[in-house]
Amino acid sequence: MYLTRKEEKIYDGEFGWAYQTAMKILVRLGDLFGASKLIPIKSAHISGVSYKTLGDAPIDFLKATAETCPRVRVPSTLNPCGFDSDYLVTKFPEKLRKKQALILNLYTQIGVVPALTCTPYYLKTPKNGWHLASAESSAVVYTNSVLGAWTNREGSPSALAAALVGKVPDYGVHRPENRQPSIVVKVETELANEAEFGALGVCVGKMLKDEVPVFQGLPANVKGDELKQLGAGLASSGMISIFHYKPSPTKGLERVAVTKSDVRNAMENLSANVGTPDLVFVGCPHCSLGEVKAVADLVRDKKVRREFWVCTSRFVKEKAMEHVRVIEKAGGHVLCDTCAIVTWLKELGVKVMLTNSAKAAYYSPTMNRVDAVLAPLNECVETALKLQR
Ligand code: F3S
Repeated sequence: MYLTRKEEKIYDGEFGWAYQTAMKILVRLGDLFGASKLIPIKSAHISGVSYKTLGDAPIDFLKATAETCPRVRVPSTLNPCGFDSDYLVTKFPEKLRKKQALILNLYTQIGVVPALTCTPYYLKTPKNGWHLASAESSAVVYTNSVLGAWTNREGSPSALAAALVGKVPDYGVHRPENRQPSIVVKVETELANEAEFGALGVCVGKMLKDEVPVFQGLPANVKGDELKQLGAGLASSGMISIFHYKPSPTKGLERVAVTKSDVRNAMENLSANVGTPDLVFVGCPHCSLGEVKAVADLVRDKKVRREFWVCTSRFVKEKAMEHVRVIEKAGGHVLCDTCAIVTWLKELGVKVMLTNSAKAAYYSPTMNRVDAVLAPLNECVETALKLQR
């Protein structure tokens, strides 16, 4: 891989250990995947923030990085952490709170903004054609497919490395030829709600692994929030980084069909056959303003009767305060900085979670050891309003 004089100096350690390590990570990745050079990025988004998912091992690496006082070279943000600072924080022991605070502190020391959201594109929407480095898989798919900015699916170390260097190797979907459709997915059923969009994503992600699908048969007026669920589902069960949903040339491409029963089976597979949910969770990926409003409209002047979380970013929450007040008046919790998957659900006594997110339903049994049931928002809210027996 070609390096400029300055990049070579970073590689050789002239700017210190942290930058050198970052450069070595990027060069190693570039060599592995056939990159020819490094290209500048506009921003980075780093995952591996929750102490629950990160554990102790990477903390020493973060400490060593922060000790040499590097600064990120591009605007960089963080994924959600283990709890919010108002509600869930009070439910966990001090030891755990300290560890989480240490992780956030180490990231902020090097200039990373603790946005603590998986939808950083609501804070600052990347422009068409921008190159980025994102380690949040749902954001990767949304960014490439809906917003038209370009990012590979980074891991936490490579996103941090890209943030420190301000560049990424030019492989994968940073190259136009790798963004072209490689397979047609004909959707032969109408999708009734956001949960079915997510289930379609999980179903197709399993089938295709890392292809570039072009979907046919989605409604012409498909909403951004529905595409967000589709992308989150695709990224959960497969390695897809980009999909197409607008008419594209498809001559000569292989075709697969997804039927009503495929989507129904995916919904069923994402739902455990278990007792009544003790948590209703909306906001995976973090809610948009429109999604917070939709929840508020469903609970206005009603009373939720079981634990009900709506997760979003601080940025969206501030914009949505009139809806937030409605949800909170009904007894729900609008949580920032975290989500049901990256917090300690089991320790909170949750056994069954009802969610409208296929991604959350996909990960909950393995990452939280909590059974999940997938249903559209209106059914989630209906259940939240019912007395728990
Ligand atoms: Fe975001 Fe948590 Fe889902 S980080 S994408 S809400 S699993």
